[in-house]
Amino acid sequence: MAQLTALLLPLLTLVLSLPGVISTTFTIINKCEQTVWPGILSNAGVPSMSTTGFSLQTGESKTITAPTSWGGRFWGRTLCSNDSTDKFSCVTGDCGSGKIECSGNGAAPPATLAEFTLDGSGGLDFFDVSLVDGYNLPMQVVPQGGTGQNCTTTGCISDLNDSCPSELKVTSAEADGNVACKSACEAFSQPEYCCSGAYATPDTCKPSTYSQIFKSACPHAYSYAYDDRTSTFTCASADYTITFCPTPNTSQKSSQGQAPPTPTTDTGSPSINGTMIYQGALDDSGASPSSGAHALRSYGIAGAVSITVAIWELWQLF
Ligand SMILES: *[C@@H]1O[C@H](CO)[C@@H](O)[C@H](O)[C@H]1NC(C)=O
Ligand SMILES: *[C@@H]1O[C@H](CO)[C@@H](O)[C@H](O)[C@H]1NC(C)=O
Ligand SMILES: *[C@@H]1O[C@H](CO)[C@@H](O)[C@H](O)[C@H]1NC(C)=O
Ligand SMILES: *[C@@H]1O[C@H](CO)[C@@H](O)[C@H](O)[C@H]1NC(C)=O
Ligand SMILES: *[C@@H]1O[C@H](CO)[C@@H](O)[C@H](O)[C@H]1NC(C)=O
Repeated sequence: MAQLTALLLPLLTLVLSLPGVISTTFTIINKCEQTVWPGILSNAGVPSMSTTGFSLQTGESKTITAPTSWGGRFWGRTLCSNDSTDKFSCVTGDCGSGKIECSGNGAAPPATLAEFTLDGSGGLDFFDVSLVDGYNLPMQVVPQGGTGQNCTTTGCISDLNDSCPSELKVTSAEADGNVACKSACEAFSQPEYCCSGAYATPDTCKPSTYSQIFKSACPHAYSYAYDDRTSTFTCASADYTITFCPTPNTSQKSSQGQAPPTPTTDTGSPSINGTMIYQGALDDSGASPSSGAHALRSYGIAGAVSITVAIWELWQLF
């Protein structure tokens, strides 16, 4: 019986990893000291997510499965409330829907954005964290179980509320302090900051003293529109966690329970060319959001070999 199970397992693996069963999950985690209301906007022409906005209390998380080839953005809304007419709005990142669901509306700047294009050029997922529309919350994107040279963690961990230049600062009486930091484009509407008009090419739109402040605080995040070279990341076959306020301070490590899983890169994973066996599925605890689909999708050569062996052994049985 045990033998039969051993034989059927690879076959089950094969079936589950067939195209169409594959999907990408996003796990959104709030480690901020206050409630965050994530918003999700899908790109034009792609199916939308099952939700476009919800609330996450401190320590809460939510996992969402994306439609195939999804593209769009995530952001966090802060200081949200209902007014006397039950209209919902937020001090930062508001999407103007009047409800918790954003239903096709985007974030009012300034807002930190996590942007994704799944299954893009070369079958890779493209993602970044962007401060092009300003900053309201620290955000981090950690790929889980993906492969590729640029399949690494990105984000903006620093607190830009306080290091924000005074002419870009957004304050709120409600929050009793700084709540966000505008982009120079939003603050001054100048083409050289917005990379528009005569500055609409990578050659003419250069980093400004303002974008450089963002860049030095958050070296992996987009600081202006043509910041691609150091700010775009790619993975094959990954799931993603998006964390608001990932750590109180960058110097701190794993003071609260286990450290976040390190991103998987080429090195260290058992690999048969063209095939990655996702090691995380074996050594991660059950808490990992990435256990399921990605372990199964990577049968590749190793899987094919074991299936051949399984079929051959099955043949011997009868
Ligand atoms: C606003 O009202 C909605 C609908 O009644 C409710 O679900 C939500 O919790 C309220 N939000 C806040 C911030 O009070
Ligand atoms: C920045 O301001 C927001 C309010 O929009 C607040 O929730 C957040 O905690 C602040 N960021 C930091 C790192 O304190
Ligand atoms: C992507 O990988 C290449 C080659 O290792 C590297 O030069 C480049 O800086 C990486 N891009 C990012 C955004 O890290
Ligand atoms: C983070 O660092 C700042 C100074 O850099 C300090 O004032 C603050 O107390 C630290 N926060 C935590 C939670 O350790
Ligand atoms: C196989 O992959 C390794 C890295 O994982 C690479 O160094 C090697 O060149 C590849 N070989 C072939 C035949 O593609």
